[in-house]
Amino acid sequence: MSTKCLVTGAAGFIGSHLVDTLLDGGATVLGIDSMKLGRRANLESALHHPRFKLAELDVNDVPAMMKLVAAEAAAGPFEMAWHLAANSDIRAGVADSDVDLRDTFLTTHHLLKVLREHQIPRIAFASTSAIYGEQPGLMREDVGPLFPISNYGAMKLASEAALSAALEAFLKQAWIFRFPNVVGSRATHGAIYDFAHKLRKNPAELEVLGDGSQQKPYFHVADLIEAMRFIVGRATERLNFYNIGTEDNVTSVRYMAEAVVRRQAPGARIKYGTGNKGWVGDVPRFNYSIEKLKQLGWAPRLTSNQAVDRAVDEIVSEINQAP
Ligand SMILES: NC(=O)c1ccc[n+]([C@@H]2O[C@H](COP(=O)([O-])OP(=O)(O)OC[C@H]3O[C@@H](n4cnc5c(N)ncnc54)[C@H](O)[C@@H]3O)[C@@H](O)[C@H]2O)c1
Repeated sequence: MSTKCLVTGAAGFIGSHLVDTLLDGGATVLGIDSMKLGRRANLESALHHPRFKLAELDVNDVPAMMKLVAAEAAAGPFEMAWHLAANSDIRAGVADSDVDLRDTFLTTHHLLKVLREHQIPRIAFASTSAIYGEQPGLMREDVGPLFPISNYGAMKLASEAALSAALEAFLKQAWIFRFPNVVGSRATHGAIYDFAHKLRKNPAELEVLGDGSQQKPYFHVADLIEAMRFIVGRATERLNFYNIGTEDNVTSVRYMAEAVVRRQAPGARIKYGTGNKGWVGDVPRFNYSIEKLKQLGWAPRLTSNQAVDRAVDEIVSEINQAP
């Protein structure tokens, strides 16, 4: 496991958990975040850690990134980058396609320039199940052709392609993780987060986009970080790409809405919309294969419903504690 690394998107939901775990494992971490969606509060304990530094910087500001990395590399070279900076708001990317071009694709393109200039040989990349689009069968890593149905998915797929090309040119190794929907404390978005916020405003009624029948696998962030680190430690190909998710297990939006209501505002009326797509670009149902990950030797501990239950507890208490 690497001991000196860059983490982009460090102040975000998943990035901040990753930073905590890397620091616990003995790494020296330079976190970079534009703070568009990230929060300093997510890094509350890391910010006191002697082996952590946070730079509030846009990854697309290449001159500033080059300067920062040069200064930080003077004490010793970086061994790898964990690239998590992206636009995580799929709906914002539907409304304005520039958002995903800039924050989801160009961050990858520009970070690769920085890695090349500073001879940082390895990258681990947060990709997504959204690259698969609407696949009729099981989403295995080798299905294709791939036609994403959101700009977000399209720009993640383009980022994967850019990593592949960079391996030809200069990179030594890359790990691509295709995450499902991730849930847990410090969430900055997602259905549980939205429901809990709506119910805080109006504890009498919860309005749900779509008819509640959308079903997806949900994955707890603690399991996710463990799986990412496992893959980086074990997968030794030049280009490694893995679905991370639960197995044959999905949770419906209805289940999540009911769980949040039970925990936050028992008795609230749930008002469903129509149709099984929450918004344009939302993939309503999918089945994820994690056979490849299991063959590598890792299996998730929580089912999708268990991950949701744990996340509902964590997110509702965070939201209720907020001023
Ligand atoms: N949460 C999920 O369910 C999920 C699912 C699939 C993939 N992912 C991917 O995992 C990664 C982390 O997602 P998250 O859920 O923690 O989202 P998040 O929004 O909490 O974290 C992303 C972070 O990136 C930062 N960022 C965005 N653009 C930036 C830029 N140009 N320069 C520097 N920082 C920038 C944001 O401020 C934010 O802190 C993302 O790449 C996301 O696409 C997340």
